[in-house]
Amino acid sequence: MGLVIPLKKEIDNSYNELKNLVGNRLDNVNQQIKYSLASEINLIHKMTSYHLKAGGKRIRPLLTLASAKLCGYREGNRDVNLAACVELIHNATLLHDDVIDNSEIRRGNKTSNTIWGNQSSILVGDYLFSRCFEMMVADGSIEILKLLSSTSSRIAQGEVLQLEYKGEIDILEETYFDIINSKTAALFAAATKVGACISDRSKKEKKALESYGRNLGLAFQIADDALDYYSTKTIFGKEIGKDFFEGKVTLPIIFLCQKVNKNEKLYLEKIFKKKTRTKLDFNEIQNLIKKYNSISSCFKRAEHFVNISYNALNIFTPSVEKTILQNLTSYSLERSF
Ligand code: IPE
Ligand code: IPE
Ligand code: MG
Ligand code: MG
Repeated sequence: MGLVIPLKKEIDNSYNELKNLVGNRLDNVNQQIKYSLASEINLIHKMTSYHLKAGGKRIRPLLTLASAKLCGYREGNRDVNLAACVELIHNATLLHDDVIDNSEIRRGNKTSNTIWGNQSSILVGDYLFSRCFEMMVADGSIEILKLLSSTSSRIAQGEVLQLEYKGEIDILEETYFDIINSKTAALFAAATKVGACISDRSKKEKKALESYGRNLGLAFQIADDALDYYSTKTIFGKEIGKDFFEGKVTLPIIFLCQKVNKNEKLYLEKIFKKKTRTKLDFNEIQNLIKKYNSISSCFKRAEHFVNISYNALNIFTPSVEKTILQNLTSYSLERSF
């Protein structure tokens, strides 16, 4: 028999397959998060309940649960507790990120900063981080504590680095990758590596799962940055053009700068140096992006990471978990939200 090419339907369904695979454990993760965030402070209760109700895709905890299953983790609840930690870190960074990015919509709802203001959002973000660290200490593994605490500091560094390069259309591709590696891929890498750590797998298997997560995370963020230029608010659950309006130079713009003519380059420089950008400016940029096929260049680049991610799991023996995780690599690009 020749090479088996996965059907497109299978790729589209890979996120649902992942949910079916570990859905019951994910319910426990949600319970654990709710339990760990309980507080007598009324505002904390209101804000965390609101934030949790919106849900989100829960892709990171799903990855931790599936990676643990792939590695044969069967007994105990460490997979659930650590998947909850990973999701808490993610949600803490989102609360902070929406303040930094002045975002008004997340997961199809108003952001917490829009409702309760920046101060409360920052503090509740800190509360989520602190609860997560309490849970990690309770888990007791120094290896995991090291991994997740260094991941948290990586995320913060990525966000600061991004801030430093605001409005710089000459940003190097390499710097862009430094940023997304830190702010997004590091947590994906940790989410998947944790699965191997709690199953006492070999160094090689830990590395393989880490590489799977990191490269999936890179593809995921590239897709997110591309979606910001062509999705719709209803589907994406976030405002469109947010990166542009905030002056964030992401891969679609980096590729555009490499292709435009002199006049268009001057126009791009001018527009990104402005204090604020208008809807009209955004339409102009969208036209340029279409003219020079920047989005398909982004997807081509992302495919490179999808392939690395897929192949990283080759060392594992065949299993349902392995197939679903490998199919998921394409989902990171085909997703529309
Ligand atoms: C949003 O992450 C931040 C990025 C890394 C692009 P998700 O797209 O996973 O957000 P939720 O949790 O599903 O809302
Ligand atoms: C995603 O940041 C990574 C973190 C939240 C640390 P972005 O600013 O690119 O993501 P969205 O678009 O707000 O979800
Ligand atoms: Mg941001
Ligand atoms: Mg943001």
